[in-house]
Amino acid sequence: MPTSKLFIILLSLLSFLSLPFRSLSDRCHPNDKKALLKIKKALNNPYALISWDPKTDCCEWYVVDCDRITHRIVQLHLFASDVSGQVPAAVSELPYLELLRFHKLNLTGSIPPSITKLTNLKFLDLSWNHLSGPVPPFLSQLENLTFLDLSFNNFTGSIPSSLSEFQNLEAIHLDRNGLTGNIPESLGRFSGLVPDLYLSHNQLTGQVPRSLGDLNFTVLDFSRNKLQGDISFLFGTNKTIQIADFSRNMLEFDLSKVEFPDSLTSLDLNHNRIRGSLPEGLVKLNLQYLNVSYNRLCGEIPAGGKLQSLDYTSYFHNRCLCGAPLPDCK
Ligand SMILES: *[C@@H]1O[C@H](CO)[C@@H](O)[C@H](O)[C@H]1NC(C)=O
Ligand SMILES: *[C@@H]1O[C@H](CO)[C@@H](O)[C@H](O)[C@H]1NC(C)=O
Ligand SMILES: *[C@@H]1O[C@H](CO)[C@@H](O)[C@H](O)[C@H]1NC(C)=O
Ligand SMILES: *[C@@H]1O[C@H](CO)[C@@H](O)[C@H](O)[C@H]1NC(C)=O
Ligand SMILES: *[C@@H]1O[C@H](CO)[C@@H](O)[C@H](O)[C@H]1NC(C)=O
Ligand SMILES: *[C@@H]1O[C@H](CO)[C@@H](O)[C@H](O)[C@H]1NC(C)=O
Repeated sequence: MPTSKLFIILLSLLSFLSLPFRSLSDRCHPNDKKALLKIKKALNNPYALISWDPKTDCCEWYVVDCDRITHRIVQLHLFASDVSGQVPAAVSELPYLELLRFHKLNLTGSIPPSITKLTNLKFLDLSWNHLSGPVPPFLSQLENLTFLDLSFNNFTGSIPSSLSEFQNLEAIHLDRNGLTGNIPESLGRFSGLVPDLYLSHNQLTGQVPRSLGDLNFTVLDFSRNKLQGDISFLFGTNKTIQIADFSRNMLEFDLSKVEFPDSLTSLDLNHNRIRGSLPEGLVKLNLQYLNVSYNRLCGEIPAGGKLQSLDYTSYFHNRCLCGAPLPDCK
């Protein structure tokens, strides 16, 4: 063997052995380990991360997952732990992250803008914390997101219209926050997938934008807000909606002529100001849930389908609804 080749082999062996923090068995990428240790520090070294020992392979640590081939960190899911602090900005230093879940950690503060560096992120769950400030418009830069859950936090301000820029989102959970203002018109203009929208338990006001009638939603939960006006344009024989919860708002419209699509399995309209009578079309639906209680409805409950098998509390507290399962009409 020529000496020059031997020299190169020796040199590379030497440089390999002198790599800091990297034992021979480490699969974990040193940059990922560095980022995870920053995250651990930012969360005040919680007990839940005790397995994150710098001397060991980070692919073996709890609550993270390494890709089987590249060994880069692709998942970080930490929940219901004794953590305190904010969403660590260092999460943005895990460039291969596809899933980030910080659930029930009592995290405070806002979402760091650096999160938009996570271009591979598909699943973002920051639910059940004390996060505050506005829902950041920059989230829509996470183009590959399929699931976004910010529910059970303390977000305020209005819903950013940029959310409609998501192309691959299957669901948006913004429920149980302190969101105010109108539902943006843009939520009727998703150009890719049409996500399930969970906006309940906020303080949203105004009318549900007409534009939402242009899309085929599957789930709309807008319950417990202060929404007004008509929502009948969300229905129609044309549509594919399955679950619609608009309970506990201030909706005011005539239900008599509304046509419901065959797809509808759950309809909750309780505690509104809906008038008219129950449309005959309800009898041909395969309803698993219906609640029109506490409205201003009148007339006989149409006979047939599932309508008589439902509990009377599905219908009670209306102006003059009658017939089974309520008392007979006079
Ligand atoms: C979160 O904070 C609440 C009080 O604000 C406390 O009762 C609860 O135990 C905390 N949860 C965790 C997981 O630390
Ligand atoms: C989405 O992910 C794919 C790989 O899965 C990647 O090629 C693409 O660049 C990502 N999108 C963005 C906006 O980075
Ligand atoms: C939410 O924000 C309000 C007003 O900013 C504050 O009074 C309340 O304590 C916060 N709640 C939580 C759980 O952080
Ligand atoms: C909604 O779905 C129905 C039934 O699949 C279809 O006929 C209609 O064109 C769809 N509308 C939109 C706006 O995609
Ligand atoms: C069906 O949907 C299309 C597009 O969403 C709409 O233009 C049309 O008026 C609808 N037809 C009925 C009968 O509702
Ligand atoms: C319908 O809603 C009312 C008001 O929230 C509630 O009291 C009743 O139990 C509900 N009925 C059913 C069957 O869920």
